[in-house]
Amino acid sequence: METVLSIRGLTKRYGRLTAVNNLSLEVGRGEVFGILGPNGSGKTTTLGILLDVINRTSGEFSWFGEPPTKEMRKRIGAILETPIFYPYLSAVRNLEIVAEIKEASKENIEPALQKVELFDRKDDKFRTYSLGMKQRLSIASALICDPEVMILDEPTNGLDPQGIAEIRELIRRIAAEGKTIILASHLLDEVQKVCTHFCVLKKGNLLYSGSVDEIGAGAVTVEVVAEKAPEVLKEWSGAKEIKLENGKCLVTLSDNQSAVDLNRYLFEKGVVASHLLTQKKSLEKQFLELLAESENA
Ligand SMILES: Nc1ncnc2c1ncn2[C@@H]1O[C@H](COP(=O)(O)OP(=O)(O)OP(=O)(O)O)[C@@H](O)[C@H]1O
Ligand SMILES: [Mg+2]
Repeated sequence: METVLSIRGLTKRYGRLTAVNNLSLEVGRGEVFGILGPNGSGKTTTLGILLDVINRTSGEFSWFGEPPTKEMRKRIGAILETPIFYPYLSAVRNLEIVAEIKEASKENIEPALQKVELFDRKDDKFRTYSLGMKQRLSIASALICDPEVMILDEPTNGLDPQGIAEIRELIRRIAAEGKTIILASHLLDEVQKVCTHFCVLKKGNLLYSGSVDEIGAGAVTVEVVAEKAPEVLKEWSGAKEIKLENGKCLVTLSDNQSAVDLNRYLFEKGVVASHLLTQKKSLEKQFLELLAESENA
């Protein structure tokens, strides 16, 4: 897998406040990478640094395997905040102005409008657009340079369910063309629905980074009550982690293991379980646990 973005030890301080703390991350080509975290966790600051609009305090990052340059910046399309369009000009006229500023070909305007499904409304004035349409026009304005990477900061903020669904569908469509997408969100559900990979930030610290599938699949826990269960299960290769809680033994299973395998192992060791319950943790539960764990740390 080719690495598109590599971040090493990135730190941003505002006086005594550390907005981003020693962050290291890798994003591979074709990934839809979610930066997930509550308000104030450093998502926008991180994206701002990556786009060269915020100065870092320390650390390094590279795009496409090279240190950032102005030339390279053209390969990255971004929407950090809603760009300013002229309210009394049409969508198409607004995009023509953007194309001039960015030195992009005007031939890219129509396909971009089509992609975001605004082609039918292209001659309407920007001020008559709904919030969702405005957001889609922003995405179109980033697309006219035909970037390899798209950076989106909270792209569905403030939209109604229909608008949210449209933006998510659009993100999937852009990803299907092979573009790499980096998306900041405070919504777990959003990350789960559109991202292939994600990281979790809290107060500037990285709590987790991995693939969305992995966290979904690797999270089967079995509650066991049996005499000597903790001692016996410690020796079992199918257990990833064992915790004791209220007299119950909570066993996180390795991949491809089930409660049946666990029970069979116990039985072979001459242990009979009086209680056996499989729990599949939702991503949400794991996310909340991650945030809570960091609170205690
Ligand atoms: N220009 C600034 N001066 C001082 N502190 C700042 C500045 N910009 C951001 N911060 C602080 O840095 C921290 C991270 O902010 P940031 O905007 O990156 O968070 P975020 O994860 O994008 O949050 P949100 O979900 O609310 O958009 C916050 O504590 C914020 O108050
Ligand atoms: Mg933000």
